[in-house]
Amino acid sequence: MLKEHQEKILELLEQLELNMCDLYLLFADRFPKYADLLTTVARQETDHADGIKKLHLLAGDDRVLFDEKITKTYTVKMFISSIQEALARAKSGKMSLINALSVSHDFEQAILEKGFYNFFSGQDDETRAVIRKITEETLDHQMKMKKAWEQERKPTPSQAAS
Ligand SMILES: [Fe+2]
Repeated sequence: MLKEHQEKILELLEQLELNMCDLYLLFADRFPKYADLLTTVARQETDHADGIKKLHLLAGDDRVLFDEKITKTYTVKMFISSIQEALARAKSGKMSLINALSVSHDFEQAILEKGFYNFFSGQDDETRAVIRKITEETLDHQMKMKKAWEQERKPTPSQAAS
């Protein structure tokens, strides 16, 4: 049985994934060079939101145990605010490609460091697979954004020569 603040955290975690999706879709629109990558990643964020919703429902049935440890609703709210700030900045055209990649990487890294997906423990293969998929894809996003960022910060041959 979930407590009220746990219900709230689960709703916020779902919202967080949807906000990441919005951010990637906006970046995909702004930065055509990475549109394919960013749209793929955005679609996976939608899957993550669906996954969290599913885990939330299954936590009601005790097929998933949910333990938010020391995390407060406030922490997740603040995280969402920082994604929304980035969205607003990008919308007003104040974000370069390199900034966008760096911000994306930082968010993915922070999601992993905060261990949001470690709050879930699946009680059967099906629920464990959902948790594993979200975790692995987030790690993959973090690596892909890092790689793209490294690619972009490399000077082009003409810049290197000057
Ligand atoms: Fe992600």
